[in-house]
Amino acid sequence: MVQVHSSAPGKIILLGEHFVVYKNPAILAAINRRITVHLKPNGTHFTRIKAGLMELVVSASKRQLSKRRTHSNSFLYPVLSCIANIQYQMNDFSGLDVIIESQIPHGEGLGSSAASCVATVGAMRALYGEIDKPSICKNAAEAERIIHKNSSGADCYVSTFGGLIYYHPTRAYTHMNPKIKFRFLVCTTGIRHDTGKLVSRVKKFREEKLPIFAELAERARVICNDAKKAMDRGDQETLGKMMTENHELLMRLDVSHPKLEEFIDICMGNGALGGKLTGAGGGGSMIALIPNKKTDEIVSNIRKKIPHSVLVELDHDGLQVNQTLAPDNKF
Ligand code: PMV
Repeated sequence: MVQVHSSAPGKIILLGEHFVVYKNPAILAAINRRITVHLKPNGTHFTRIKAGLMELVVSASKRQLSKRRTHSNSFLYPVLSCIANIQYQMNDFSGLDVIIESQIPHGEGLGSSAASCVATVGAMRALYGEIDKPSICKNAAEAERIIHKNSSGADCYVSTFGGLIYYHPTRAYTHMNPKIKFRFLVCTTGIRHDTGKLVSRVKKFREEKLPIFAELAERARVICNDAKKAMDRGDQETLGKMMTENHELLMRLDVSHPKLEEFIDICMGNGALGGKLTGAGGGGSMIALIPNKKTDEIVSNIRKKIPHSVLVELDHDGLQVNQTLAPDNKF
Protein backbone atom coordinates (compact mmCIF):
# COMPACT_ATOMS: atom_id res chain seq x y z
CA MET A 1 0.00 0.00 0.00
CA VAL A 2 1.28 3.46 -0.89
CA GLN A 3 1.85 6.02 1.81
CA VAL A 4 2.75 9.64 1.25
CA HIS A 5 4.92 11.92 3.37
CA SER A 6 4.67 15.60 2.68
CA SER A 7 6.07 18.57 4.54
CA ALA A 8 5.83 22.33 4.24
CA PRO A 9 7.55 25.17 6.13
CA GLY A 10 6.12 27.83 8.43
CA LYS A 11 6.80 31.48 7.82
CA ILE A 12 7.54 34.85 9.34
CA ILE A 13 6.22 38.14 8.01
CA LEU A 14 9.06 40.65 7.91
CA LEU A 15 6.94 43.62 6.86
CA GLY A 16 3.36 44.40 5.89
CA GLU A 17 0.94 42.14 7.81
CA HIS A 18 -2.66 43.37 8.10
CA PHE A 19 -2.03 46.12 5.54
CA VAL A 20 -1.48 43.32 2.99
CA VAL A 21 -5.19 42.46 3.26
CA TYR A 22 -5.88 45.94 1.74
CA LYS A 23 -3.67 45.67 -1.34
CA ASN A 24 -0.43 46.72 0.32
CA PRO A 25 2.88 44.92 -0.27
CA ALA A 26 4.46 42.53 2.25
CA ILE A 27 7.73 40.63 2.70
CA LEU A 28 7.59 37.06 3.99
CA ALA A 29 10.14 34.32 4.55
CA ALA A 30 9.75 30.55 4.85
CA ILE A 31 11.56 29.25 7.94
CA ASN A 32 13.21 25.98 8.88
CA ARG A 33 10.29 24.80 11.02
CA ARG A 34 7.95 22.36 9.25
CA ILE A 35 4.67 20.54 9.39
CA THR A 36 4.80 16.98 8.09
CA VAL A 37 1.75 15.04 6.96
CA HIS A 38 1.84 11.22 6.65
CA LEU A 39 -1.14 9.90 4.77
CA LYS A 40 -2.33 6.52 3.52
CA PRO A 41 -5.57 4.76 2.58
CA ASN A 42 -6.80 2.63 5.51
CA GLY A 43 -9.23 0.33 3.70
CA THR A 44 -12.30 1.67 5.57
CA HIS A 45 -14.83 4.43 4.88
CA PHE A 46 -13.57 6.56 7.75
CA THR A 47 -10.83 9.15 7.71
CA ARG A 48 -8.83 9.53 10.90
CA ILE A 49 -6.67 12.63 11.38
CA LYS A 50 -4.31 12.86 14.33
CA ALA A 51 -2.20 15.85 15.32
CA GLY A 52 -0.58 15.46 18.72
CA LEU A 53 -3.42 15.08 21.20
CA MET A 54 -6.05 16.24 18.71
CA GLU A 55 -7.94 13.59 16.80
CA LEU A 56 -10.78 13.66 14.35
CA VAL A 57 -12.62 10.64 12.89
CA VAL A 58 -15.17 11.35 10.16
CA SER A 59 -16.99 9.46 7.46
CA ALA A 60 -14.88 9.84 4.31
CA SER A 61 -17.92 11.10 2.40
CA LYS A 62 -18.63 13.84 4.96
CA ARG A 63 -17.60 17.32 3.79
CA GLN A 64 -18.84 19.48 6.68
CA LEU A 65 -17.74 19.69 10.32
CA SER A 66 -19.35 21.53 13.18
CA LYS A 67 -18.93 25.29 12.68
CA ARG A 68 -18.29 25.70 16.43
CA ARG A 69 -14.82 27.26 16.75
CA THR A 70 -12.51 25.25 18.95
CA HIS A 71 -8.73 25.06 18.96
CA SER A 72 -8.78 21.61 17.43
CA ASN A 73 -11.26 22.34 14.66
CA SER A 74 -9.55 25.61 13.74
CA PHE A 75 -6.49 23.48 13.03
CA LEU A 76 -8.03 20.24 11.73
CA TYR A 77 -11.03 21.60 9.81
CA PRO A 78 -8.96 23.19 6.98
CA VAL A 79 -6.93 19.96 6.79
CA LEU A 80 -10.10 17.88 6.49
CA SER A 81 -11.41 20.30 3.91
CA CYS A 82 -8.23 19.90 1.80
CA ILE A 83 -8.72 16.12 1.86
CA ALA A 84 -12.49 16.19 1.23
CA ASN A 85 -12.28 18.65 -1.68
CA ILE A 86 -9.67 16.60 -3.51
CA GLN A 87 -11.49 13.31 -2.87
CA TYR A 88 -14.69 14.92 -4.14
CA GLN A 89 -12.93 16.04 -7.34
CA MET A 90 -11.52 12.52 -7.78
CA ASN A 91 -14.85 10.89 -6.85
CA ASP A 92 -13.02 8.72 -4.32
CA PHE A 93 -14.36 8.37 -0.78
CA SER A 94 -11.96 5.83 0.70
CA GLY A 95 -10.92 6.34 4.29
CA LEU A 96 -7.44 7.63 5.07
CA ASP A 97 -5.14 7.60 8.07
CA VAL A 98 -3.51 10.98 8.43
CA ILE A 99 -0.86 11.86 10.97
CA ILE A 100 0.33 15.44 11.32
CA GLU A 101 3.62 16.24 13.04
CA SER A 102 4.38 19.84 13.73
CA GLN A 103 7.44 21.89 14.67
CA ILE A 104 5.32 25.05 14.47
CA PRO A 105 3.15 26.18 17.40
CA HIS A 106 -0.47 26.67 16.32
CA GLY A 107 -2.05 30.14 16.46
CA GLU A 108 1.20 31.99 17.08
CA GLY A 109 1.65 33.78 13.76
CA LEU A 110 4.17 31.34 12.29
CA GLY A 111 1.98 29.95 9.52
CA SER A 112 1.01 26.57 11.02
CA SER A 113 -2.36 26.56 9.37
CA ALA A 114 -1.00 27.44 5.90
CA ALA A 115 1.79 24.85 6.24
CA SER A 116 -0.66 22.13 7.29
CA CYS A 117 -2.94 22.92 4.33
CA VAL A 118 -0.03 23.02 1.84
CA ALA A 119 1.42 19.75 3.16
CA THR A 120 -2.00 18.05 3.15
CA VAL A 121 -2.90 19.15 -0.39
CA GLY A 122 0.61 18.12 -1.50
CA ALA A 123 0.12 14.66 0.05
CA MET A 124 -3.34 14.24 -1.50
CA ARG A 125 -2.13 15.30 -4.94
CA ALA A 126 0.77 12.85 -4.67
CA LEU A 127 -1.66 10.07 -3.75
CA TYR A 128 -3.39 10.66 -7.09
CA GLY A 129 -0.07 10.98 -8.87
CA GLU A 130 0.15 14.69 -9.73
CA ILE A 131 2.27 17.32 -7.99
CA ASP A 132 1.83 20.78 -9.39
CA LYS A 133 2.91 23.46 -6.91
CA PRO A 134 0.84 26.40 -8.28
CA SER A 135 -2.40 24.43 -8.08
CA ILE A 136 -1.46 22.99 -4.66
CA CYS A 137 -0.91 26.55 -3.43
CA LYS A 138 -4.30 27.64 -4.80
CA ASN A 139 -6.18 24.72 -3.16
CA ALA A 140 -4.39 25.26 0.17
CA ALA A 141 -5.27 28.99 0.18
CA GLU A 142 -8.94 28.14 -0.50
CA ALA A 143 -8.96 25.79 2.51
CA GLU A 144 -7.29 28.42 4.73
CA ARG A 145 -10.06 30.87 3.83
CA ILE A 146 -12.54 28.60 5.67
CA ILE A 147 -11.06 29.76 8.96
CA HIS A 148 -10.07 33.26 7.93
CA LYS A 149 -12.06 34.42 4.93
CA ASN A 150 -10.02 37.54 4.14
CA SER A 151 -6.72 35.67 4.03
CA SER A 152 -4.25 37.27 1.61
CA GLY A 153 -3.01 33.79 0.63
CA ALA A 154 0.59 34.97 1.02
CA ASP A 155 1.29 32.39 3.78
CA CYS A 156 0.35 29.52 1.48
CA TYR A 157 2.52 30.88 -1.31
CA VAL A 158 5.67 31.14 0.81
CA SER A 159 5.00 27.74 2.38
CA THR A 160 4.60 26.09 -1.04
CA PHE A 161 7.58 27.68 -2.78
CA GLY A 162 9.90 28.53 0.14
CA GLY A 163 12.44 31.38 0.20
CA LEU A 164 12.06 35.07 0.77
CA ILE A 165 9.26 36.73 -1.12
CA TYR A 166 7.97 40.20 -1.86
CA TYR A 167 4.21 40.12 -2.21
CA HIS A 168 2.95 42.76 -4.64
CA PRO A 169 -0.28 44.69 -4.17
CA THR A 170 -1.37 43.11 -7.47
CA ARG A 171 -1.16 39.70 -5.74
CA ALA A 172 1.93 38.72 -7.72
CA TYR A 173 5.10 37.48 -6.01
CA THR A 174 8.81 38.18 -6.52
CA HIS A 175 11.46 35.89 -5.07
CA MET A 176 14.14 38.00 -3.41
CA ASN A 177 17.80 37.17 -3.35
CA PRO A 178 19.53 39.60 -0.96
CA LYS A 179 23.29 40.14 -0.98
CA ILE A 180 23.77 39.01 2.61
CA LYS A 181 22.16 36.62 5.07
CA PHE A 182 19.73 38.25 7.51
CA ARG A 183 19.28 36.64 10.91
CA PHE A 184 15.92 36.60 12.66
CA LEU A 185 15.23 35.60 16.23
CA VAL A 186 11.67 34.36 16.77
CA CYS A 187 10.10 34.74 20.22
CA THR A 188 6.69 33.15 20.80
CA THR A 189 4.57 34.56 23.63
CA GLY A 190 2.59 31.34 24.15
CA ILE A 191 -0.56 33.48 23.80
CA ARG A 192 -2.59 31.96 21.00
CA HIS A 193 -4.36 34.40 18.72
CA ASP A 194 -7.32 34.18 16.38
CA THR A 195 -6.24 35.63 13.03
CA GLY A 196 -9.86 36.08 11.85
CA LYS A 197 -10.78 38.16 14.93
CA LEU A 198 -7.68 40.37 14.61
CA VAL A 199 -8.32 40.91 10.89
CA SER A 200 -11.91 41.89 11.79
CA ARG A 201 -10.61 44.32 14.41
CA VAL A 202 -8.49 46.02 11.75
CA LYS A 203 -11.45 46.04 9.35
CA LYS A 204 -13.53 47.88 11.99
CA PHE A 205 -10.67 50.34 12.58
CA ARG A 206 -10.54 51.00 8.85
CA GLU A 207 -14.31 51.49 8.58
CA GLU A 208 -14.43 53.85 11.55
CA LYS A 209 -11.23 55.82 10.88
CA LEU A 210 -10.60 55.59 7.17
CA PRO A 211 -8.37 58.72 6.82
CA ILE A 212 -6.10 57.53 9.68
CA PHE A 213 -6.00 54.01 8.28
CA ALA A 214 -5.14 55.33 4.81
CA GLU A 215 -2.26 57.35 6.27
CA LEU A 216 -0.91 54.33 8.20
CA ALA A 217 -1.27 52.07 5.15
CA GLU A 218 0.58 54.53 2.94
CA ARG A 219 3.45 54.68 5.45
CA ALA A 220 3.43 50.85 5.68
CA ARG A 221 3.68 50.69 1.89
CA VAL A 222 6.68 53.05 1.79
CA ILE A 223 8.40 51.20 4.66
CA CYS A 224 7.91 47.82 2.99
CA ASN A 225 9.36 49.06 -0.30
CA ASP A 226 12.30 50.77 1.46
CA ALA A 227 12.93 47.57 3.43
CA LYS A 228 12.99 45.57 0.19
CA LYS A 229 15.61 47.92 -1.28
CA ALA A 230 17.61 47.73 1.98
CA MET A 231 17.55 43.93 1.85
CA ASP A 232 18.55 43.91 -1.82
CA ARG A 233 21.65 45.96 -1.03
CA GLY A 234 22.41 44.07 2.23
CA ASP A 235 21.69 46.99 4.58
CA GLN A 236 20.84 45.51 7.98
CA GLU A 237 20.51 48.80 9.87
CA THR A 238 17.85 50.23 7.55
CA LEU A 239 15.92 46.95 7.50
CA GLY A 240 15.93 46.94 11.33
CA LYS A 241 14.62 50.52 11.50
CA MET A 242 11.89 49.74 8.98
CA MET A 243 10.79 46.69 10.99
CA THR A 244 10.56 48.71 14.20
CA GLU A 245 8.58 51.45 12.47
CA ASN A 246 6.30 48.83 10.95
CA HIS A 247 5.61 47.57 14.47
CA GLU A 248 4.67 51.09 15.59
CA LEU A 249 2.09 51.24 12.79
CA LEU A 250 0.68 47.88 13.92
CA MET A 251 0.45 49.22 17.48
CA ARG A 252 -1.68 52.07 16.11
CA LEU A 253 -4.00 49.42 14.65
CA ASP A 254 -4.26 47.94 18.18
CA VAL A 255 -3.01 44.48 17.28
CA SER A 256 -0.02 44.35 19.60
CA HIS A 257 0.04 42.83 23.09
CA PRO A 258 1.92 43.77 26.32
CA LYS A 259 3.96 40.54 26.09
CA LEU A 260 5.06 41.41 22.55
CA GLU A 261 6.06 44.89 23.72
CA GLU A 262 8.05 43.38 26.58
CA PHE A 263 9.89 40.99 24.25
CA ILE A 264 10.60 43.73 21.69
CA ASP A 265 12.08 45.94 24.45
CA ILE A 266 14.29 43.06 25.63
CA CYS A 267 15.57 42.37 22.11
CA MET A 268 16.19 46.03 21.30
CA GLY A 269 17.86 46.59 24.69
CA ASN A 270 20.28 43.76 23.92
CA GLY A 271 21.49 44.80 20.49
CA ALA A 272 18.78 43.75 18.00
CA LEU A 273 18.58 46.09 15.01
CA GLY A 274 14.80 45.95 14.78
CA GLY A 275 11.84 44.20 16.34
CA LYS A 276 8.19 43.73 15.52
CA LEU A 277 5.25 41.42 15.91
CA THR A 278 4.93 38.90 13.09
CA GLY A 279 1.60 37.61 11.77
CA ALA A 280 -1.72 38.78 13.14
CA GLY A 281 -0.46 39.91 16.59
CA GLY A 282 -2.66 39.98 19.72
CA GLY A 283 -0.15 37.58 21.32
CA GLY A 284 1.47 35.14 18.91
CA SER A 285 5.10 35.87 18.06
CA MET A 286 7.61 38.63 17.47
CA ILE A 287 10.77 38.69 15.41
CA ALA A 288 14.00 40.57 15.99
CA LEU A 289 16.67 41.28 13.39
CA ILE A 290 20.01 40.21 14.87
CA PRO A 291 23.15 41.81 13.42
CA ASN A 292 25.68 39.62 11.66
CA LYS A 293 28.38 40.87 14.05
CA LYS A 294 28.35 39.66 17.69
CA THR A 295 25.36 37.46 16.77
CA ASP A 296 26.07 34.76 19.37
CA GLU A 297 26.65 37.21 22.19
CA ILE A 298 23.44 39.14 21.43
CA VAL A 299 21.34 35.98 21.08
CA SER A 300 22.73 34.54 24.28
CA ASN A 301 21.92 37.76 26.20
CA ILE A 302 18.37 37.80 24.85
CA ARG A 303 17.95 34.10 25.69
CA LYS A 304 18.77 34.83 29.35
CA LYS A 305 15.45 36.72 29.42
CA ILE A 306 13.49 34.88 26.70
CA PRO A 307 14.88 31.32 26.97
CA HIS A 308 12.70 29.77 24.27
CA SER A 309 13.63 32.29 21.55
CA VAL A 310 14.94 30.63 18.37
CA LEU A 311 17.31 31.91 15.68
CA VAL A 312 15.62 30.64 12.54
CA GLU A 313 17.10 29.89 9.12
CA LEU A 314 15.36 30.57 5.84
CA ASP A 315 13.85 27.56 4.10
CA HIS A 316 14.44 27.46 0.34
CA ASP A 317 12.69 24.18 -0.47
CA GLY A 318 9.04 24.89 0.29
CA LEU A 319 6.75 21.90 -0.13
CA GLN A 320 8.49 18.51 -0.27
CA VAL A 321 6.63 15.30 -1.03
CA ASN A 322 7.68 11.69 -1.27
CA GLN A 323 5.99 8.32 -1.45
CA THR A 324 6.93 5.00 0.08
CA LEU A 325 5.38 1.59 0.22
CA ALA A 326 3.87 0.88 3.63
CA PRO A 327 5.63 -2.20 5.07
CA ASP A 328 2.66 -2.97 7.33
CA ASN A 329 -0.46 -1.30 8.62
CA LYS A 330 1.42 1.24 10.69
CA PHE A 331 3.12 4.46 9.76
O1 PMV B 1 -0.95 35.20 12.22
P1 PMV B 1 -1.03 34.58 10.88
O2 PMV B 1 0.11 33.63 10.59
O3 PMV B 1 -2.36 33.96 10.62
O4 PMV B 1 -0.83 35.76 9.78
C1 PMV B 1 -1.86 36.67 9.47
C2 PMV B 1 -1.36 37.72 8.53
C3 PMV B 1 -2.40 38.81 8.19
O5 PMV B 1 -1.74 39.77 7.36
C4 PMV B 1 -2.88 39.50 9.45
C5 PMV B 1 -3.57 38.24 7.43
C6 PMV B 1 -3.27 37.75 6.00
O6 PMV B 1 -4.08 36.99 5.49
O7 PMV B 1 -2.27 38.13 5.40
